[in-house]
Amino acid sequence: MREQKISETSETQASVRVELGDRSYDIEIAGGLLHKAGEMIVARLGKRRCAILSDENVAALHLEKLHNSLDAAGLSHGTIVLPPGEATKNFTPLAKACEELLQMEIERGDLIIAFGGGVIGDFSGFAASILRRGMSFVQIPTTLLSQVDSSVGGKTGINTAQGKNLVGCFHQPSLVLIDSDVLETLPARELRAGYAEVVKYGLIDDPVFFSWLEEYGPRILAGDAQARTHAIAVSCRAKARIVAQDERESGVRALLNLGHTFGHALEAWAGYDGSLLHGEAISIGMIMAFELSQKLGYCEDGAADRVEKHFKSVGLPTRIADIADENGPNADELLKTMAQDKKVKNGKLVFIMVHNIGESFIDDEVPMDALATYLQSQCAAKN
Ligand code: GLY
Repeated sequence: MREQKISETSETQASVRVELGDRSYDIEIAGGLLHKAGEMIVARLGKRRCAILSDENVAALHLEKLHNSLDAAGLSHGTIVLPPGEATKNFTPLAKACEELLQMEIERGDLIIAFGGGVIGDFSGFAASILRRGMSFVQIPTTLLSQVDSSVGGKTGINTAQGKNLVGCFHQPSLVLIDSDVLETLPARELRAGYAEVVKYGLIDDPVFFSWLEEYGPRILAGDAQARTHAIAVSCRAKARIVAQDERESGVRALLNLGHTFGHALEAWAGYDGSLLHGEAISIGMIMAFELSQKLGYCEDGAADRVEKHFKSVGLPTRIADIADENGPNADELLKTMAQDKKVKNGKLVFIMVHNIGESFIDDEVPMDALATYLQSQCAAKN
């Protein structure tokens, strides 16, 4: 366990290095950082022509600030604004954006800037990986979820009819710029959903961070700037450490999928229409991982209740019954979707299970009958 006191919460800025040899990069975190984005890009990556990919919501709120900052640093730029939402992460919008970028005469040495949440980050990173056989890109994430998870680590991709993120590749950004102030314009529900990914780092391997979140989580959501910066920094340090050890998820990186096999199945059932956000799905998924771990005798009793109490205290859903009426998912449907998940290895479902809060492990031996029984109990439960 790392030596960190619960009271150490005062961080106004942080710099985190993702160590990946000649592809190493920095994550810079601070309030108001957007105004310095241009000079930070020039300082690290030199003067480049930039192509910004963003969505309509982020562009309306923050694009001018980014443009001003690039102008001040003498960086020329073009911008493509995409429709918001998961539907953008698809072949057709990707092909269109790539052609528009080529129309702009983008060159291999130019820079793509992903300016938005997880959809824009994954989409732009994938576009950068295939354009001109691979271009550099900078992540400027604008949601809590993308700031603490998806902008770091180089997972890029789009969705297909068969599932989420099934077409994509690993392509690391050259720089990640996180302005914690942009969270002030994020809808409260999106902020809460991103918070579930913050809690995940405590649950994986940092019980002290989880205890800190039990105390400070409500302040993070209410807008306490220092608590927010600290939570983002701890999350990014954890992610950077794990990615440096296992960039392509052949081992320890899989721990970041705690709650995701359940969560992805719930998202597929809900239909990616905004009715169930990713963070909400993995909030429920993480409780399921804890409960199933308890049922299988891996985990101390009481851990699932403690995690659930925390998620409930910040207003996150924790049960299928919280998101479904009598037409909710059935266990067979969920199992079928789980079998299509990327976490399937040699035909076996790989789960992240837990011994306790902060003690997760990879398990490909979860008995299917116990899983099916547990899912049936959850699908049948009513509020
Ligand atoms: N979001 C999980 C990962 O980046 O590995």
